[in-house]
Amino acid sequence: MSDTRSDTPLSDRPSTTRASGELFSEERSAEVVAASFADTPDPRLRQVLTSLVHHLHAFVKDVELTEEEWGVAIDFLTRTGQMCSDVRQEFILLSDVLGVSMLVETINHRTGGTSTESTVLGPFHMVESPKRELGDDINLDRKGTPCLVSGQVTGPDGEPLAGASVDVWQTNEDGFYDVQQPGIQPAGNLRGLFTADEQGRFWFRSVVPRFYPIPDDGPVGQLLAATGRHPNRPAHLHFIVAAPGYRPVTTHVFVADSPYLDSDAVFGVKESLIREVPEVDDPARAAELGLANPFRTLGFDLTLLRAGDAPPAAQPAEVQPTVVRGAPS
Ligand code: BEZ
Ligand code: FE
Repeated sequence: MSDTRSDTPLSDRPSTTRASGELFSEERSAEVVAASFADTPDPRLRQVLTSLVHHLHAFVKDVELTEEEWGVAIDFLTRTGQMCSDVRQEFILLSDVLGVSMLVETINHRTGGTSTESTVLGPFHMVESPKRELGDDINLDRKGTPCLVSGQVTGPDGEPLAGASVDVWQTNEDGFYDVQQPGIQPAGNLRGLFTADEQGRFWFRSVVPRFYPIPDDGPVGQLLAATGRHPNRPAHLHFIVAAPGYRPVTTHVFVADSPYLDSDAVFGVKESLIREVPEVDDPARAAELGLANPFRTLGFDLTLLRAGDAPPAAQPAEVQPTVVRGAPS
């Protein structure tokens, strides 16, 4: 019996898979592999895979990846997958520290400078935050520096969004979310789902949050350590704000004097989201609010885009000067 693989000339063999039939070579590796996806019925899947193959092959060629390095990478990705569970998503954390989460978020929520900018959701959001009344104290154990948080939700023309939902969550003054300290913090501590008033305003009592490290006891933490990066995020409050007919925004407000504003481990900081948190020393006002004196105040107004409006276009790519926060100008 003859071996068709060796007896039949290449050009005469039936084309069973690829239209091009071109064999793999170092020079044309990306084109050959991309051609294998040419018949992908879903055009978006075809576009994504083709681009992925081109970028991946360019990367391997750029660094001339060794077999040992490829083995290390496979082991790293394997351990990243093995670290994942119902309560731990190491792949999202990897995407976070590589800046991919922020890039996807930013591309998909362009504001054109007209609405509140978005940032990463993070792993500590609860699907159902506890419902609270305006003015409630979400600092259930009353520890830490008290803070009055307030703001107004409006649309692009300044129209107040009456009844907007304002979902907030934050760390305590030690830099931990309630879910990280069961038995130490009460469940639902420093979380709340508020409904804005007729003027779109919201206010509640809380505590000044602290910077904290992202979970760094897995492969992502090892990557940070191996590259001399710290795992910290600057102090922030998370917000998801929504109103019927408007695009919801997932964002944070950052505390202006927090460490790590210029080196957030997940690249979540945007200049427009940083606010001063000044101290107020006014015993009468503190008593009126039900807060210990002195207390701090944090104002954060949010603007939502209309759901029907076309998303703003990408800004033209231009070389931006590097901004170093705190550097003399
Ligand atoms: C957070 O802000 O809760 C967070 C975001 C990304 C990774 C880890 C934590
Ligand atoms: Fe956070």
